Amino acid sequence: MLQPLFHRKQVAGYGDYMVEATQRRLETWSPGETCDIESEMQNLTLEILFATLFGRELAPGEGNELRAASDGLNSWFAPTSWLLPNWVPTPSRRHFSESKEQLRSEIRRLLTEHGEKSKPDSLHQETLLSKLAEAREASGQDHLSTEEVEGQLLTMLFAGYETTAAALGFAWYALAQNPEIQQAFHEELDAVLDGEPPTHADITDLELTRQIVTETLRMYPPVHTIPRQTTRDVNVDGYQVPADTQVHLPLLAIHRDERFYDDPSSFRPGRWTGEFEDELPDYAFIPFGGRRRTCIGREIATLEATLVLATIGQHWTLEWMGEEEEVSIEPEMTMKTQNELPMQLRPR
Ligand code: HEM
Repeated sequence: MLQPLFHRKQVAGYGDYMVEATQRRLETWSPGETCDIESEMQNLTLEILFATLFGRELAPGEGNELRAASDGLNSWFAPTSWLLPNWVPTPSRRHFSESKEQLRSEIRRLLTEHGEKSKPDSLHQETLLSKLAEAREASGQDHLSTEEVEGQLLTMLFAGYETTAAALGFAWYALAQNPEIQQAFHEELDAVLDGEPPTHADITDLELTRQIVTETLRMYPPVHTIPRQTTRDVNVDGYQVPADTQVHLPLLAIHRDERFYDDPSSFRPGRWTGEFEDELPDYAFIPFGGRRRTCIGREIATLEATLVLATIGQHWTLEWMGEEEEVSIEPEMTMKTQNELPMQLRPR
């Protein structure tokens, strides 16, 4: 039902807005300033997601409320609670429930606002909200309850912006750590864009930029673990896994396995040349999952990551200002850093 909103053709239409939103944010940057690029990318991707899915721009302060509530959902994954049975009321689980309620009430507000509006949405005619409202009317309320509609929107918000922000944050970090690659990236942008803002039509020619996105998704997969639960006893390659067991697919480990990748701990965008990806074994590269539950937002995410990198990299160089040489990773629901991603912003 929602798939048409995420098809490649439809997604291409979001490109201009992605670039404009990035340019607006760049107007707030000052030369020489140091900022936490992880948080800055979260602000930007939330703004873009909101506009592409809900059809209007965030009102002042609205982004902070949504971000705080959405971030609270990560507390489900606090290591101290993670292994305890679901009924144990740990502080992080309480925080999770409060955040979920807060996010739900924000979503109810959005739904009411949408229901009250008679005009089409300002940025796009068809949005996630209008599709869900349409489907709800068509199916009668028995098929798609208010709870389900709210649940879909909640999932979309949570799944859609922190993930893309993580990909962008780690891409800037990897570029700052690899000056020769950063230099080649800038040269590509200058040659392909010739000073004009990037558009969807430039994506094919921005080969290195696309490879940088792919290599970042390999080394720093924003969803670092895909959890599943067995519904029956299964035999996996000789291991007996009983029913009702949690099984975790550790993307971070798979993507850094030397059976599939030469020198897996090095950031080498150039490895994604020619047939490399097609020749990888199945499931050796699965940043968006696989098969039936593949991420619905993958086209949006890759277009967005490529256009945002290009728009920023055209005019700015980012320099790593962290105290440690290497960033420490904090695997919450999405991949995070322990001490933010401080970067100095320098105009090119
Ligand atoms: C770089 C960015 C992103 C990455 C790495 C990513 C990755 C993933 C992964 C690994 C899954 C789980 C698949 C599974 O369970 O097998 C998933 C599910 C999902 N993603 Fe994404 N995603 C990204 C961006 C987005 C965006 C932009 C949206 C929405 C606009 C989105 C919406 C969803 C939804 C709705 C699900 C399904 C959740 C569910 O099954 O309950 N994702 N994504």
